[in-house]
Amino acid sequence: MTDTAANGADGKSTVVVLFGGRSSEHQISCATAAGVLEAIDRSRFDVIPVGITRDGEWVLESDDPEKFRLDPERLPEVVDNGTRVQLPDSARHRTVSVRHADGRVEPLGEVDVVFPILHGPYGEDGTVQGMLELVDLPFVGSGVLASSVGMDKHYTKALLAAAGLRVAPGLTVHDHDWRREAEGIRERIGRELGYPVFVKPARAGSSVGVSKANGAAELDEAMRIALAEDDHVLVERRIDGREIEIAVLGARYGERARASVAGEILVDGAEFYDFAAKYLDSGAVRLACPAAVTGAELAQAQDLAIRAFEALGCEGLARVDFFLDAEGFLVNEVNTMPGFTPISMFPRCWQESGLPYPELITELIDVARSRAEARRAHDA
Ligand SMILES: Nc1ncnc2c1ncn2[C@@H]1O[C@H](COP(=O)(O)OP(=O)(O)OP(=O)(O)O)[C@@H](O)[C@H]1O
Ligand SMILES: [Mg+2]
Repeated sequence: MTDTAANGADGKSTVVVLFGGRSSEHQISCATAAGVLEAIDRSRFDVIPVGITRDGEWVLESDDPEKFRLDPERLPEVVDNGTRVQLPDSARHRTVSVRHADGRVEPLGEVDVVFPILHGPYGEDGTVQGMLELVDLPFVGSGVLASSVGMDKHYTKALLAAAGLRVAPGLTVHDHDWRREAEGIRERIGRELGYPVFVKPARAGSSVGVSKANGAAELDEAMRIALAEDDHVLVERRIDGREIEIAVLGARYGERARASVAGEILVDGAEFYDFAAKYLDSGAVRLACPAAVTGAELAQAQDLAIRAFEALGCEGLARVDFFLDAEGFLVNEVNTMPGFTPISMFPRCWQESGLPYPELITELIDVARSRAEARRAHDA
């Protein structure tokens, strides 16, 4: 296909960069927007920046990377400026408009692709993806099913295990089970898993609610913390291994996904890669890329990453996180909208694999368009 075929008169495509959002990762998403707005190839793309406030208002934002740059003094945020961005009201056209505070409605253009750089619930979990599907707007990344499965660690593990991929031994405990039969669950954990265990909410990110319980005495507190974040939680055997990550880039229709070189999370000075290590205590964690792994280990991780990507039906992009222990690789989780600031692991892994950040953005948009066109041809 030729990428310019469906473009506007100037030969450019129009991309909505969608950021902010209702989840706790609102500010990280804004920082990512700064990176994308700065790096996106302006000779190929016209950009419509759309911010989602914490309350869920869709507002037209200024096309200004500076405004959203991560500054420890003032974390970036989308605030309600009175505008409202309106998606097409039918799948028959792709005109996105803005309603100004005075009620005036102005068309913003015919949108070719939406790039949702949203993390967590109401962004990475299939909800926004479903909304875009309804009005037939092509978008970067996974569709409804893979997004919602990837958001939930329990269902992710179930699908990965069904595809024959190794995952951490563990069990999923529902809030109501824990209230009714905690004693039986405690006994099972001791017998089937042994301590220490990791306890984590099924649908949280950034290590929020994750803790390590070194024995039965610490389990109740770990369960309380995790159940405050979600109604079902995973209790997993502690895996003693390195944390290795692979960035997967989805393919054009009919082609196979591609895997990057490996990155590694090196934690020293923290007990594990917890919230503080991720965002507060920058000295405790180092992202190494490329990771020091053998050629055989890299090939194996890349193969497993693509198998995990396909097992969940991912599209566009995903970061597949592994533990490497004495028995080999085991998949910890699949992130369908991984951290995407220029210094995040996903872009860094592709940079080290020969695809710099601006070209990575172009590739993601081109892949999304190619897949949307193939789907449309198939439906016709
Ligand atoms: N079974 C386990 N054994 C050893 N360490 C674990 C285990 N599960 C989680 N951890 C540690 O806890 C950290 C956070 O857990 P995990 O990656 O599963 O959730 P998350 O980081 O909250 O999710 P996300 O990466 O989507 O933000 C991991 O990076 C790892 O350091
Ligand atoms: Mg993680």
